[in-house]
Amino acid sequence: MSIFQETESNVMVYARSFPVTFTRASGEFLYDQNGEQYLDFLAGAGSLNYGHNNPTLKAALLRYIENDGITHGLDMHTEAKARFLEAFQRNILVPRDLDYRFQFTGPTGTNAVEAALKLARKVKKRQNVVAFTNGFHGVSLGAVAATGNRLHRGGAGVALSNVTRMPFCGYHGQDVDTLKIFEQQLNDPSSGLDLPAAVIVEVIQGEGGLNTAKDAWLRGLEKICRKFDILLIVDDIQAGCGRSGQFFSFENSGIKPDMVTLSKSLSGFGLPMAVVLIAPELDQWAPGEHNGTFRGNNHAFVTAAAALENYWADDSFALSVQRKANIISKALKSISDRHGNTQLRPRGRGLMQGLACPSGEIASRISREAFTRNLIIETSGNRGQVVKCLCPLTIEDKHLQDGLSRLAESIDAVLKTPVSAAS
Ligand SMILES: Cc1ncc(COP(=O)(O)O)c(C=O)c1O
Repeated sequence: MSIFQETESNVMVYARSFPVTFTRASGEFLYDQNGEQYLDFLAGAGSLNYGHNNPTLKAALLRYIENDGITHGLDMHTEAKARFLEAFQRNILVPRDLDYRFQFTGPTGTNAVEAALKLARKVKKRQNVVAFTNGFHGVSLGAVAATGNRLHRGGAGVALSNVTRMPFCGYHGQDVDTLKIFEQQLNDPSSGLDLPAAVIVEVIQGEGGLNTAKDAWLRGLEKICRKFDILLIVDDIQAGCGRSGQFFSFENSGIKPDMVTLSKSLSGFGLPMAVVLIAPELDQWAPGEHNGTFRGNNHAFVTAAAALENYWADDSFALSVQRKANIISKALKSISDRHGNTQLRPRGRGLMQGLACPSGEIASRISREAFTRNLIIETSGNRGQVVKCLCPLTIEDKHLQDGLSRLAESIDAVLKTPVSAAS
């Protein structure tokens, strides 16, 4: 029995799919105790957009630690925080004509979601929030109430309240405009829908199976929010920081959310850090009203600032992500075509794409087959049926192609059809 089996809680999950002990990692590769190399199409569930131990970020962090830079500073002013704020404003907000205040929350995504929902309820003095089918927003009580997944909701142990579920874009098929259902309920004084303080939405549902909201749908949602005085919160914890092909997943649509939650790849180095971007007029917190010991991680500020300066000063990185996204789209289409594309349906956008399989069982068999080929890839979706490619955005083209070929072979092995090139 390993120390993990002897001591770790049954709640542990990823190690069940990838039962080796990892020792080091670099770029898009992980290495286990035996020196075996694995290609990483999971990237810390989207926390390692710039790869493992990115050399530029690592150098900045090592310099900072060497100079005894502040590690823990509560929410006091630090030079590292100032640099991060300046870099974010200059490289991200100003070029996109966005104006937000930064609330540093506890360090994980669910902390940012909790804060955003709390602030929305406080500002609007309403309890209800609308969240969408297949949405995933975290597992602390406020966030899990907005999460759709039954397993996670069941773990709450108390009634999850003050959230109303609406159908996401395409939930009832591409012919049904789900916003009509929402708007009709808002207009109907007898619909049973309490006017929400906010709507919380993912543009690409990461855990929910890579369902992607159309730009027109997002614009329609924003219009409804403005018409009924509802705040619009975009949860960009997984799809943000470049994964969609742009820094924010909502950029194409032109919407301007009232709040945006970011975490996962914000530090760019796998260091925990979360933030709520808040439209200035909504920043109605009293000092300390919402707090936490680990708000704003100074090491994360250092690596985040380095990532913003290095990758987001112009659009070349975003363009490279879009180019790689095309490589994935083509490969997934080709795999899907080869299997008579009703079996495997491509999903998602940017470097957040995958294939919906006929069942969760088939998808997890594909993930297991991929692991025998040293490819680390996970599943998502309401029934775990979507095999999800979440490689680092910095992955070299040849490794991306290699990973896609390993995926194609794994799918062929599971679906028992002849192997040919993935693209
Ligand atoms: C969209 C979204 N929101 C919130 C969360 C919760 O983040 P964390 O696991 O860091 O609490 C996740 C995590 O996968 C997520 O994908």
